Amino acid sequence: MKSPQRKKRAKRILVAPSILAADFSVLGREIKRIEGAGADMIHVDVMDGHFVPNITIGPCVVRDIRKMTSLPLDVHLMIAEPSKYIKPFAEAGSDIITIHAESEKRIAALITKIKSMGKKAGISVKPGTPLGGIKRYLGRLDMVLIMTVEPGFGGQRFIRGMLGKISRLRSLYDGDIEVDGGINKESAGEAVKAGANVLVAGTYVYGAKSARSAIRSLKEYQ
Ligand code: DX5
Ligand code: ZN
Repeated sequence: MKSPQRKKRAKRILVAPSILAADFSVLGREIKRIEGAGADMIHVDVMDGHFVPNITIGPCVVRDIRKMTSLPLDVHLMIAEPSKYIKPFAEAGSDIITIHAESEKRIAALITKIKSMGKKAGISVKPGTPLGGIKRYLGRLDMVLIMTVEPGFGGQRFIRGMLGKISRLRSLYDGDIEVDGGINKESAGEAVKAGANVLVAGTYVYGAKSARSAIRSLKEYQ
C-alpha cells in the first residue's frame, strides 16, 4: 500500500512592522496604531553605532513598549558584543531575541543564553554573509533573519539577490524565516515565494495612508 503523501503545510505569514519608521515622539500611540491595524509582532531595531553606523534604542525603551502591547516583541540586535545585553533585553520583555552571526564568535553560547532566559532565539545574516556559518545552529533556532538590505537604516531598496539565499535556507530549515529591509507588496511576494514567512516592514507600513491596508496587502501571498 502506498503511504499517504505528506505535504508540508504552508507557514502562516506574520507581519512585523519595524518601529524604526515610527514617530518616536509619540511611540506609544504609534504602537497602538499598528496593533489595531493587524500587526502580528512589533519589530524593534536596536543599533549601537558600532556594529552598524546608526544608534537607536536600548532596553529601557523596550521595557516601556512592553507596557503598551501584548503583541510579541521581536528584538533585532544590531550591536557589537550582544552577550552583554541579552539579559537586559530579555528582562525588559523581549519575546524573540535575534543576534547577528557576524557580531561575536561564541554563537552557540549566545543561543543558550537567550533560551535559558525563556526567550525565542534568532540569528540574522547580513547580505554578504553566507549561510554556511549558521547551518550548525539551525536545529536550535526559532527563527533566521535574512537581511535584505545592509543593516543600519530604514527606507532602503530590497536586494533581490537575497531571494536565492532565502530558498536555499528554506530547503534546509523548517522554522520561521524572517526578511528585513525594503519589504513592500512586490518584494514581499517574491520573498514569500522563496520561502520567507515573517515580513518586517517599516517604511511600507508606517508610511502608508492606511497601515491596515498595507499589512493586509503583505498577507495576500498566504
Ligand atoms: C535595517 C532594519 C530594518 C529596517 C526596515 O537595519 O533592520 O528593520 O528598519 O525598514 P524598511 O522597511 O523601511 O526597509
Ligand atoms: Zn530589523
